[in-house]
Amino acid sequence: MADYDYDVLVIGAGPGGYVAAIRAAQLGLKTACAEARETLGGTCLNVGCIPSKALLHASELYEEAKSGALAKFGVDIESARLNLTQMHSEKSKAVGELTGGIAFLFKKNKVEWLKGLATFIGKDSVEVAGKTVRAKNIVIATGSSVTPLPGVEVDSEVVVDSTGALAFPNVPEHLVVIGAGVIGLELGSVWKRLGARVTIIEYLDEILPGLDGEVRREARNIFAKQGFTFKLGTKVTAVGRNGVAATITVEPSAGGEAETIEADAVLVAIGRRPNTGGLGLDKTGLGLNKKGQIEVDHRFATAVPGIWAIGDVVPGLMLAHKAMDEGIAVAENIAGHIGIVNHAVIPSVVYTHPEIAGVGLTEEEAKTRGEIKVGKFPFAANSRAKTNRDTDGFVKVVADAKTDRVLGVHIISTLAGTMIAQAAQAMEFGATSEDIAYTCHAHPTHSEAVKEAAMAVTGKPIHI
Ligand code: FAD
Ligand code: NAI
Repeated sequence: MADYDYDVLVIGAGPGGYVAAIRAAQLGLKTACAEARETLGGTCLNVGCIPSKALLHASELYEEAKSGALAKFGVDIESARLNLTQMHSEKSKAVGELTGGIAFLFKKNKVEWLKGLATFIGKDSVEVAGKTVRAKNIVIATGSSVTPLPGVEVDSEVVVDSTGALAFPNVPEHLVVIGAGVIGLELGSVWKRLGARVTIIEYLDEILPGLDGEVRREARNIFAKQGFTFKLGTKVTAVGRNGVAATITVEPSAGGEAETIEADAVLVAIGRRPNTGGLGLDKTGLGLNKKGQIEVDHRFATAVPGIWAIGDVVPGLMLAHKAMDEGIAVAENIAGHIGIVNHAVIPSVVYTHPEIAGVGLTEEEAKTRGEIKVGKFPFAANSRAKTNRDTDGFVKVVADAKTDRVLGVHIISTLAGTMIAQAAQAMEFGATSEDIAYTCHAHPTHSEAVKEAAMAVTGKPIHI
């Protein structure tokens, strides 16, 4: 340790980096974390998970109040008025509280916060804000940023990325979203609920790539009923800005006649790419794979001894909880313990209404690996969902035909994001569908649909 300033230096204070730093400090290692932003928490807390969920929650409340949907429950609201400034202010307050909370946790755990952009100047040394620091272990947790669409300039006024779409000062009349992925649907939902007309242009023939096929189709039907316009199998060839408006030129992905769409706001949401530029990786000898990611082994060690990497900058799902779990695991590995992340059981949630959640293999993926059994149960037959007048969606359990082991669970429901945790836990414990079917679930809850879907794997649900 004599020559080193720190046992562990983490670069980036997103969910991966700040968690790694805290765990390393908890394990008795002298730890610092370098962060280029003014505040801690990375993409997730500053311009990702947290502000988007704040707007999703607030816009849902507004829509419920405004649309008269509560009247059938005996709640008459004379008039609901949007105060967008207040909505943004409450969002910023939540972000401030949470990013400040990480600063508090750093102090509590004695993690030193190095403010500034970190650049490698050697395998074990980094320059931050003009100061050179040496560390025995360096964890790269620099996250990701928006993938640009060639030829389309994000001007942050009319043509925006997700950060711009979290801060529109006015509700656009017509919002065109490029990309029917998670960001497109979540932020599209926010502005639709607040009054915008929303058109989503997607290159592929279906929305939400990567999710279970049946879930994708059902989700599209639900969103179409909500009033989204989808242009699937369509590519954007140009976006021209004319004053406060934009003209989007599109054509079929497979080629064909072009058409134009007018909009007063365009959100580019076609994915994210790892942040490695400006890191000075050439000084370390560390290379990138074809996708620009840093390859790691199961311990999150890179090819260069002493350099580790986690989160969005390494292969795998770009999700905050995956980054956090990798943060804990890498710190434990550095400290000489055994840190493991089971990448086969990482839940993912789309926070629309209804929510869409999944864990494990999709039905399509499972089929390619062997014989399977599938059980499904609709919320139209779940007593709590019926009582709440909120019956969109279903639960699907995919199990191995021979062993009955659960391979995947997929849910569309208002509460899917919360419900998926029980499926992840069951899978982590190697549960069979029978294990779930014989677990007593409280009544009346949406979670009973998970039990019934598990019972349906053997053809024996009760309520349908
Ligand atoms: P990041 O959170 O990107 O953090 C990396 C940090 O490193 C940044 O703060 C950056 O400033 C810093 N940094 C980069 N380079 C350097 C350097 N050289 N020196 C110093 N600092 C540096 N995921 C979910 O699981 N749930 C959600 O609901 C969700 N919602 C999202 C909504 C939006 C709009 C977006 C954009 C993303 C969302 N995500 C969500 C994804 C989630 O934000 C990321 O998966 C997660 O933040 C990745 O964590 P990370 O620690 O790898 O990187
Ligand atoms: P995404 O990968 O989810 O979706 C991008 C979509 O754009 C895809 O459907 C893709 O086919 C489409 N696309 C790509 N190029 C296109 C083109 N030229 N024209 C039209 N469509 C095109 O990416 P997104 O929505 O930008 O989100 C990035 C990542 O952020 C997600 O993958 C996820 O990891 C993370 N995220 C997670 C959230 C959550 O967990 N709830 C919320 C928001 C983001």
